[in-house]
Amino acid sequence: MYYPDEVVEEVRMKNDIVDVISGYVKMQRRGSNYFGLCPFHNEKSPSFSVSQIKQMYYCFGCGAGGNVFTFLMEYENYSFEEAIKFLADKAGVSLPETDYSVEARRNENKRAKLLAVNKEAARYFYYQLRSQKGQVGYRYLRERALSDETIKKFGLGFAHVTSDDLTKYLKSKGYEDKLIMEAGLAGFDEKYGVHDKFWNRVMFPIQDGNHRVIGFGGRVMGDGKPKYLNSPETMIFDKSKNLYGLNFARTARAGHIILCEGYMDVIAMHQSGFTQAVASLGTSFTAGQANLLRRYAKEVILAYDSDGAGVNAALRAIGILKEAGLTGKVLNLEPYKDPDEFMKNLGEDVFKERLRQAENSFFFELRMSEKNYNLKDPESKTRFHREIAQKLCGFSEEVERENYI
Ligand code: UTP
Ligand code: MN
Repeated sequence: MYYPDEVVEEVRMKNDIVDVISGYVKMQRRGSNYFGLCPFHNEKSPSFSVSQIKQMYYCFGCGAGGNVFTFLMEYENYSFEEAIKFLADKAGVSLPETDYSVEARRNENKRAKLLAVNKEAARYFYYQLRSQKGQVGYRYLRERALSDETIKKFGLGFAHVTSDDLTKYLKSKGYEDKLIMEAGLAGFDEKYGVHDKFWNRVMFPIQDGNHRVIGFGGRVMGDGKPKYLNSPETMIFDKSKNLYGLNFARTARAGHIILCEGYMDVIAMHQSGFTQAVASLGTSFTAGQANLLRRYAKEVILAYDSDGAGVNAALRAIGILKEAGLTGKVLNLEPYKDPDEFMKNLGEDVFKERLRQAENSFFFELRMSEKNYNLKDPESKTRFHREIAQKLCGFSEEVERENYI
C-alpha cells in the first residue's frame, strides 16, 4: 500500500515521538532531550535518547535510531503499514484506502478473519478448562505444578472428548466451515463431516509478539499419539518466524534468551521467573527465528533435552545462531531430561547457577565430536585434531580465532 507523503507527514505530526515512546520506555528529561534504558539492547544506564525537536530517537549504546514509524516497526515488529495504521488510529487520522489493491485487501481481510477465529477458539478452550468437563485437563495442569496464575497468563485451555463442539460453537458465532478448516481448527472426512481437529487435549494458544493467537499446540491426555498436535501453517501462522513465549520474553531484558524445545518447558521457566525463555513450534529452529531473536539479545542459551536427539538439535541450532551473528551457549540439565523436570526437582536457584555455568558453544561442539574418536589411537586423534582445525577456520575474525587456539 502506498500512502501519499502528505498523509505520512500528517500522521507523523500528530504523533509526538516523546508521547509515543513514553508508552514503552520510561524516560527522563535532560536538557532538550529525553533519556531512558534502550529497548533494543540490554543495558543498565540509559543511553537511549529521544529528541523532541528533531522527532528522532538514537541509542548511543547500540546505534538504533529513527523516527516514530521505525520505532514501532522495531519495537512492535510492525510493517510500515501496520505502524502507520496504528498511529493514524491513535491520532484520529483517517487513511485513504483507494489504491489498496483488491488482492491486498482480500489478504488483509483473510488475515483478520483467521486471527478472529483463533481468538474465539482460544476463548472457548479457556472456558472449557474451567467447566465440569474440563476438570481432567485442569487437574492435569495442576499436577504438572502449574499455578492458576500461570494457567491464566498463558491462556491455557482444554478441548474435551466431544469432537464437534468447537466447530458448532464457532458456527454459532457466525464463522463458516471453510474458514474454520482453513484455520486448522477443523478437518473434514466422509464419515464424520466437519469435525474438530483437537480433542482430549490441554490446549496451548500460540501467540505472536503482540499477544495475538495465531495457532495452537495441544497435548493429549494420557499416552495417545501424537503427544502434541499443532495447528498447521496458515497465512497468520508461519512456524519458522514465530517462537512460543516470545510475546513475554521480548521484554524480559535478561541479557540473553533461553531457547528450549517444549511448551511445558517455556511455561515452567516463566513460572519460576525466567521470562526470557522461548521454544520453537514443534519444528526445528530456523534462521528466521534466529533473526527474530537478534532483536532482543545477543546471546542465546540452549536448554534442549539432554538426550541424543536434544544434543543433535542443539548442534544444529548452534550453527544457525552463529550464522545469524548470535553467541550460543549450552545449558547442562543433567541429570534431568528437560527444563521442566529440572525446575521441578532442583528449583530456580540451581537453575540460575546452571545458567551462569552454561558452556561456550564451541567447547560444547568439541566435547561432542570428541566422543566420535578414540584419542588413544594416534591416527584417530589426528583426525579429531584436523576436525578442530577446520572448525577453527570457521572464525573469520582473527582475534577470535587466536583466542580459541
Ligand atoms: P517433548 O516430547 O520433549 O515433550 O517435545 P515435552 O515438552 O517434554 O512434553 P511433556 O513434558 O511430556 O508434556 C518437545 C516439543 O516438541 C513438539 C512440541 O512442540 C513439544 O513441546 N512435539 C513433540 C510435537 O510437535 N509433537 C509431538 O508429538 C511431540
Ligand atoms: Mn517434558
